[in-house]
Amino acid sequence: MNHTMKWVIGMGRGGIVELVSSNEPSHPLPIPERLQPDRVTDEALYYTIRTERGEHRFFDQGVSAETLGYNGNLLGPMIELPTGKTVYINTINQLDEPTSFHWHGLVIPAAEDGGPHQAIEPGEQRQVRLDVDQEPGTLWFHPHPMGATAEQVYLGLAGLLYVTDETENELPNEYGVDDIPLIVQDRLFTDDGRLDYDRQMNVDGTVGDTLLANGAIDTTFDVTTNTLRVRLVNGSNARNLDFSLSNGEALTQIATDGGMLDQPVSLKTLTLSPSERAEIIIDFSGMATGYRLALQADGIPFTTFTVRDLTEQDGDWTDAFTEAPVAHKSSETARRLTLFGMGNMVTIDGKQFDPDRIDINVRQGSTEVWEIYNREDMMGGMTHPFHVHGVQFRILERDGNPPPDNERGWKDTVAVAPGEKVKIEMTFRETRTFMYHCHILEHEENGMMGQLRVN
Ligand code: C2O
Ligand code: CU
Ligand code: CU
Repeated sequence: MNHTMKWVIGMGRGGIVELVSSNEPSHPLPIPERLQPDRVTDEALYYTIRTERGEHRFFDQGVSAETLGYNGNLLGPMIELPTGKTVYINTINQLDEPTSFHWHGLVIPAAEDGGPHQAIEPGEQRQVRLDVDQEPGTLWFHPHPMGATAEQVYLGLAGLLYVTDETENELPNEYGVDDIPLIVQDRLFTDDGRLDYDRQMNVDGTVGDTLLANGAIDTTFDVTTNTLRVRLVNGSNARNLDFSLSNGEALTQIATDGGMLDQPVSLKTLTLSPSERAEIIIDFSGMATGYRLALQADGIPFTTFTVRDLTEQDGDWTDAFTEAPVAHKSSETARRLTLFGMGNMVTIDGKQFDPDRIDINVRQGSTEVWEIYNREDMMGGMTHPFHVHGVQFRILERDGNPPPDNERGWKDTVAVAPGEKVKIEMTFRETRTFMYHCHILEHEENGMMGQLRVN
């Protein structure tokens, strides 16, 4: 297929394969199914999630690729987690290798967190209990077994978690109509259309030339409402993505990884590093029927919105923003962490991951400020998306300055550029052993991960 002819292989780090436009005919954007609970009581919801091997045809002319999925062939359903409820999920591993179910961004005890210590063997199952007690937001789940996270995610294991409550009723929230998810991932394919995890062989993270939105190439979505809420997830293994609109107009960001911003923020370009999320509003009012507007990543359109007959929505989404902006002040720095290296030599504080070593001990209930420093090497270095399990944090400072307006919401991952020092503040509510790591999945696998024990 001629899309394979257009790879641009350079020597730069962190993005040696550039994105290209697909030559594929466009397809309707797949909307992940909303998972129906097996059972609902007054206090609890019960769900079942199983990992499966599957196959999926990505290209009209291609073969079926071998894939992995949750309750299906590729990616997974959207699981709703209402705040104040207890959610039980029966997790089943139907793969022929160990996996785990990590609830990225959920503030829950380490025993339910699904990190590398909670692998589930082939054919085994386990019920997790998630007491949902945090702000509404767009979270996600993915595997986290030792040594196989990057490949399992690459082959399709990723799903959506929506923490919900009534405070969102002012926002567009009709799932699949005016409130849509976009899991965006770059991938490499073989000439005949299979996912190619091995060819790129980049220890700094696998990057691809083809973008998928909810698992599909070159997608379209029919807009039928004045405003559309899009929940963006950078589900790439290693690529930072710069999102923009094809007409050059600004988009409006309303939420970060773990909750709403205090105020909407208008941006021409929105950058997300791997595992970061953002909710945006795109305003189509006044656009003529038939008008097409594309969402681009790194300047390459990947999802095209076509304006149909627009209906007014109830209410005004801007009413959801009534709070005065939170003042972000720095408190004393409790710890300094240094990210360093590339390839196989990536470290945090000079160390590589050791499951038998606890790197940081903190008291339950304590609030700490951490300064994350990305130390440059002789060649500069690369951005590391730093992620902490079991908490949502605030960014206090980037190199001594307040964070940009669109980073003033709850976060669980922060991109730290070469040479940069970022201060974050978090409260440790939940106990026992959590991971913190670079969310370039290959860096995490190469040891850029530490253990935090909350006692
Ligand atoms: Cu997305 Cu260790 O996590
Ligand atoms: Cu996580
Ligand atoms: Cu990294």
